[in-house]
Amino acid sequence: MKTKLFLLTSLLFACSSRESTIIQYMPHMANTPILKAQKGYDGFGNGASVLMPPEHTVARGHKPYRMESAEAAGAQLQNPLPKNLEVVQRGQAVYNNYCLTCHGPRGYGDGPVVNPFPIPKSLQSENMLLWKDGHLFHIITKGQGVMPSYAQQIQPEDRWAVIHYLRVLQRAEHPTEEDVRELKKQKAKAD
Ligand code: HEC
Repeated sequence: MKTKLFLLTSLLFACSSRESTIIQYMPHMANTPILKAQKGYDGFGNGASVLMPPEHTVARGHKPYRMESAEAAGAQLQNPLPKNLEVVQRGQAVYNNYCLTCHGPRGYGDGPVVNPFPIPKSLQSENMLLWKDGHLFHIITKGQGVMPSYAQQIQPEDRWAVIHYLRVLQRAEHPTEEDVRELKKQKAKAD
């Protein structure tokens, strides 16, 4: 009982002593003007209520993309991801979410939204088979012709993963002799 009473009085004392404090030490943060969104503010001299980052600022973790052309990217960039089941499955998910709508399930440009949307060039063309991964990375990053850039929607790693998946689609349509032999062997086993 005694301890409870003591606690209560000390609590009361603590409260009243805080209220009577009149000296504020460095009050700057406590007394900032309240800015209303979209209202504007004169403090920075340009009417804006937020400071803009200095020129050439790069967000933490962001790697600026510097390639000037698809050819340069093809010559200089390597796909950093290993070609394994996990990566290819990730690429497949990206493709099905972002690319299939226009490019179609196997890349022939027969996705569900084309016509009225423009019909894309085939991802199975001879050019596409020859172009390096970096070349394709550039097209996805920067866009090409009427195809928009996907830099905002798709993280660089997912862009590389979808390229591995494009290679799988291409190999399925252009199998090597060995692929065909292997497929026949597997079919014979299953029968
Ligand atoms: C809104 C429809 C649309 C979507 C979605 C789309 N593309 Fe395209 N894509 C196009 C069109 C149209 C072209 C032809 C552009 C041109 O050269 O004028 C094209 C061209 C390309 C090319 C170059 C083909 C060539 O022979 O020049 C590649 C590579 C490509 N797309 C990959 C992708 C990938 C990968 C995705 C998903 C991340 C994607 N596209 C999503 C419409 C689309």
